[in-house]
Amino acid sequence: MDKPKISIAGCGYVGLVTASVLASRGFNVIATTIIEDHIDLINSGQAPFYEEGLDDVLKQVIKENKLMVTSDNQMAVLNTDITFISVGTPMREDNSIDLSFINTVSKEIGKALAKKKDFHLVVNRSTAVPGTTRNLIGKNLIQKSSKQLGKAIGLGMQPEFLREGSSVYDTFHPNRLIIGEFDKKSGDTLENMWRLFYEDRFPPIERMNIESAELVKYANNSFLCTKISFANEFANFAELIPNVDVNDVMKGIGLDERINPKFFRAGVGFGGSCFHKDLSAIKKWARNLGFNSKVLQAVLDLNENQAIHIVDVAEELIGNLINKKISILGLSFKPGTDDMREAPSIRVINELRKRNVTDIIGYDPKAKESAEEAIGDKIKYAKSIEEALKNSECTLLITDWDEFKELTPDDYKKHMKTPNLIDGRRIYDYDKFNKELNFRAMGRINLE
Ligand code: UDX
Repeated sequence: MDKPKISIAGCGYVGLVTASVLASRGFNVIATTIIEDHIDLINSGQAPFYEEGLDDVLKQVIKENKLMVTSDNQMAVLNTDITFISVGTPMREDNSIDLSFINTVSKEIGKALAKKKDFHLVVNRSTAVPGTTRNLIGKNLIQKSSKQLGKAIGLGMQPEFLREGSSVYDTFHPNRLIIGEFDKKSGDTLENMWRLFYEDRFPPIERMNIESAELVKYANNSFLCTKISFANEFANFAELIPNVDVNDVMKGIGLDERINPKFFRAGVGFGGSCFHKDLSAIKKWARNLGFNSKVLQAVLDLNENQAIHIVDVAEELIGNLINKKISILGLSFKPGTDDMREAPSIRVINELRKRNVTDIIGYDPKAKESAEEAIGDKIKYAKSIEEALKNSECTLLITDWDEFKELTPDDYKKHMKTPNLIDGRRIYDYDKFNKELNFRAMGRINLE
């Protein structure tokens, strides 16, 4: 069976990674972007952002002429069999979802389909509230092409679950494929395409209607965030109970097969481009339907609260923080990236500033520049761990970078004025650090 030709609208994390990975398995792919500066860059084999493993795959597929990038959506559609939509769905100021990119691109695709003879499948991969694929994309396709869905045009929705920093790996090794289909032909076409991609390593697949698939994405992220906020709530509770360690508690419950041990790491809360945006969008959308989600509200509130909590813990440890020099280790929302979107460090720094703490210095192995953009002059920026710790009176560890894990109690004692350390990500051996430093860790307290 011949591999279908693929076009992908959008060259962000999801679009470009999917395009490159498909091309590396012999699919001919045309990707499109509205960012003119990115076109030549990607066509020369360079990704416009850093993503582990992407550069190698991209260079190879550009060299082999398997992937090309253009701004011309219509040309891309006319020369391919399946089009994926992977454009951004940003959050508006009122927390609702901005569907303008999906709207524009689906009209372009519709115009191209007016000129096409053969069957063409359009698959939405952008996270969007239920109904968007059918009522916005589907409608635009019908209006602009003057054709019917189900006959000349197929329609599907396939949510993605890619983690930043692991998205190449995740595309090759997904836990499962979720396919939302307008009709059987659309679903079969999409499933067959992925069967040609995965061959004998085909992952579990679940086919359903389009709206259910759209909600799977939101429910998935909501559940992961619920696990994190649950762990954080128990961490805060555990800090009131002598000798209880929340890590052991989460390990204990994680061994129950009905629960599973992942995403139970307590700390300063979740960040990133998806979690906060998706939970806020679905909560807001539910509200418009007259549905008030108590769980989502609690999950988001608990997440905000972790930034306040770690500052409270610092005050418990050393008293008033005003006029003290505070160090922040880790600014990006997770290790392995310079992404500052919704980073917990921003919330912690805002909370410190709210309490009139002004002498703050931050250090991050990768995110100095993006942090300067996101946080501005609310803090100073160090170029090394040593510089960040120098003469500091309290260190808050916010991101679990490997290079922080290598630090010993002596490193803190050597550089800091007074070695007060709060481990916001539970990366240190509690007993060892507690013996040698004035130490606190999320979800653990020794009240002897
Ligand atoms: C996430 C989802 O994992 C992915 O499926 C979805 O498509 C996009 O959003 P990503 O934003 O890359 O991916 O980050 P992830 O690695 O999941 O971590 C998100 C945040 O949660 C980080 O700030 C991390 O520190 C935090 N986290 C994660 C915890 O605080 N505790 C945990 O146990 C796990």
